[in-house]
Parts: sequence; structure tokens; C-alpha cells
Amino acid sequence: MREILCSHDGRPGPLLPILHDVQAQAGYISEDAIRVIADHLNLSRAEVSGVVSFYPDFHRTADPRPAIKFCRAEACQARGSETLAKQAAVLAGDRVRVETVFCLGLCSAGPNAMVGEDVHARLDGDRIAALIGSL
Ligand code: FES
Repeated sequence: MREILCSHDGRPGPLLPILHDVQAQAGYISEDAIRVIADHLNLSRAEVSGVVSFYPDFHRTADPRPAIKFCRAEACQARGSETLAKQAAVLAGDRVRVETVFCLGLCSAGPNAMVGEDVHARLDGDRIAALIGSL
């Protein structure tokens, strides 16, 4: 934690980068982490908690399951992303988190979803089943 905090000392707007680093390292942002970050940045715990709870990519508890994030913006929605997300949720059960995001920047190739750092384009039911099966 100290290493992450010190790596952002002197940089403008360090809160979000710190939260991303903590999330990347620990998989979630604990109450203890929020307290330490708030103390280090001279912010209130409420201010840090507010930022953590505002962004759905930040998690307050550990969840080691893989996640598939479906784009729910207009272009993907028009190509059936909501139906695919529902199919994925049924296929995945409790084994995979099915989440939504707003535009993955590949609008012309939708419907799209993201797993880790990879964007999967032109999804259909078969490709979703294969993707869920690979997680
Ligand atoms: S609308 Fe889905 S990637 Fe932009």
C-alpha cells in the first residue's frame, strides 16, 4: 500500500490512479485501504468511499470470479447486446460475473463485450457460449 501511495506522490489528481492500482493489486478496495488512502491524501473517508462507490469497476469486497462486461451503449444495444447479456448470465450462473459498461469504442463491430483487457466483437449466441466456456 505504501509503495502504491508513494508512487503517486506529487502527481496531480492521484486518487483515481491510486484506487486503480489498489484494485489491480488486491482485487478490491477494502475499508482499511480507504482509510489509509484518505489519510495519505488528506481527504475524508467519505470522499474516498464516494469515489469508490461511484465507479462500478471498483469493488468493495473480493470477488475472484472472472467478469464479462457487455457494452450497453446505443450501437451495441441496437444489435442485441442486452439479449446476449441475459443469455450470458444464464450460461455463466454464479461462475462468472456478467456486468455492463457504456461503450467500448468499437461501435461499428458490435455487439461487443470485454473480458480482462480484451474486447470481443461481433458477438452472437454461439460466440458468447464459447467465451463463457473458456472462462
Ligand atoms: S456502442 Fe458498443 S462499443 Fe460503442
